[in-house]
Amino acid sequence: MQKDRWKGASGSAWVELQAVTDQLMAGLVPPLVDGLSGSVLDVGCGTGVTTVAAAKTADRAVGTDISEAMIEAARQRDPSLEFVVADAQTHDFEHFDWVISRFGVMFFPDPVAAFTNLRRAGDKLRCIVWRGGDENPFMTTAERAAASLIEIPPRDPHAGQFAFADPGRVRKILEQAGWDGVALDPLEVECTMPKAVLETYVSRLGLVAIALQDADEATKQHVLEAVLPAFEPFIDGDTVRFDAACWIVRGGT
Ligand SMILES: C[S@@+](CC[C@H](N)C(=O)[O-])C[C@H]1O[C@@H](n2cnc3c(N)ncnc32)[C@H](O)[C@@H]1O
Repeated sequence: MQKDRWKGASGSAWVELQAVTDQLMAGLVPPLVDGLSGSVLDVGCGTGVTTVAAAKTADRAVGTDISEAMIEAARQRDPSLEFVVADAQTHDFEHFDWVISRFGVMFFPDPVAAFTNLRRAGDKLRCIVWRGGDENPFMTTAERAAASLIEIPPRDPHAGQFAFADPGRVRKILEQAGWDGVALDPLEVECTMPKAVLETYVSRLGLVAIALQDADEATKQHVLEAVLPAFEPFIDGDTVRFDAACWIVRGGT
């Protein structure tokens, strides 16, 4: 279940690779926070990089996440901000002007219930979510390359990284949850990381990392040796480079 993953191994891996994900997704911070004012709730804030960015222009920014490890890392990143451990689907939040999220809202078991709860928590919504795996080949490279070597847990099309890929589905969820003014606009942002950290990235984050969690060292090595060459199309000298194909989702007035 998504919740257990984030509270467990995936949360710890994101904390460990905080510097890598900060750099990788730096280009996705400005479209999320530009022009924010008043009070902001950052949902699924992870280690808090977007909450800190939102606090630069907003009067108040609060980050919330289901993972204790992530929230602890966020508090260390900026002890002056408020960070709350909570399940955003059910937590009784106070009221904010804005609800924002970068990749933190695709994991709810009941998205209509979750966005109904978030509608109570804020007037305006701005979220960045992934478009589909076909438009984001970097994100599925490892699992495609490893498919014949290990059993990869299948992706749940309605909960997980690509759960908000279908704009019609997203619109329906938000409208059923009571959001008006729903709009989705495509957003493409270049992401980069040093080539030197690609192996760590693949072995710690994503479905292959989850599948290899309990494998012995020899199996991990064997799979990584097969998987890493598949990233060749994304290598540019010492840098890994790809375009993130996302939706920026807006709602509220
Ligand atoms: C892909 S990470 C994104 C983290 C951060 N927003 C960023 O961009 O670096 C997804 C985040 O959503 C959080 N999350 C998943 N389900 C959640 C839930 N039900 N309530 C709150 N946070 C949740 C995870 O713990 C994780 O930190």
